Amino acid sequence: MSDLVGAPRITILVDNKANDGLLAEHGFSVWVEVAGRRLLFDTGQGPALAGNPGKLGVALHAADTLVLSHGHYDHTGGVSLVIDSAPAAHVYCHPAVTTPRYAIRNGAARPIGMPESARSALEWVPPERLHWTTRPIEVAPGIGLTGPIPRLRAYEDVGGPFFVDGEGKHSDPIDDDLALWIRTDRGLVVVVGCSHAGVINTLKYAQRLSGGSRIHAVLGGFHLGEASETRVARTMGALTALGPDLIVPCHCTGELAVDKLRQTLGERVRLGSAGATYTFDGDDR
Ligand SMILES: [Fe+2]
Ligand SMILES: [Fe+2]
Repeated sequence: MSDLVGAPRITILVDNKANDGLLAEHGFSVWVEVAGRRLLFDTGQGPALAGNPGKLGVALHAADTLVLSHGHYDHTGGVSLVIDSAPAAHVYCHPAVTTPRYAIRNGAARPIGMPESARSALEWVPPERLHWTTRPIEVAPGIGLTGPIPRLRAYEDVGGPFFVDGEGKHSDPIDDDLALWIRTDRGLVVVVGCSHAGVINTLKYAQRLSGGSRIHAVLGGFHLGEASETRVARTMGALTALGPDLIVPCHCTGELAVDKLRQTLGERVRLGSAGATYTFDGDDR
């Protein structure tokens, strides 16, 4: 448990917000350079990933690892593009990423699963490079994936009306939801996709897997847009207790939750957007 890695450099490639000159879309993707590795975490819907990396000087073809946080279209739509441009990359995801899934609001079912192009691209990844992440794994010393995250807190749910069938008979536990953690000398840096397992469940589990390291930073979607006041309040309380130095809410966190984060945790909260880079060396921008 003593492996520490040097400061990662994390660039948001795709987000609901984007810096000037970049495409914004409802989706999420980040580029992580750490310990000589180049990991892509999620792919957005596809269109933003086709243009934003080049404008940011990120060479997707140099990715050695693609991680999928879960199978929603706004995280997996660019999978075929990545597999085409970085054919040697290892792919890590839970087998449930390919499950058909739906959001049902006002009686209307909307498919929100992985697009067919991504499904067939995954089929072409050679088995030795396709890692079904059904349990925690370290992709390199000090760099880990949680695998499925235990849902220990009753106040945290998947965050929306999600089902595995269009009739709404079977709710979707989103068992594939996973997070990336990196153990640095300042503590853990945790990257989440949509936090469907709950952001506090996720942080606590990453902490446990990494040998109890403190949380230095958390970056990604917290999916609190449809959360109850109780859930938001309890999440703020738990985050305050965890005491991260940097919190970067992105993507599906929800505006009210971002306001609450700012009120609660002040300067430590920096709203994410495509084009933002975090170097974890005291010079983040
Ligand atoms: Fe999402
Ligand atoms: Fe999602």
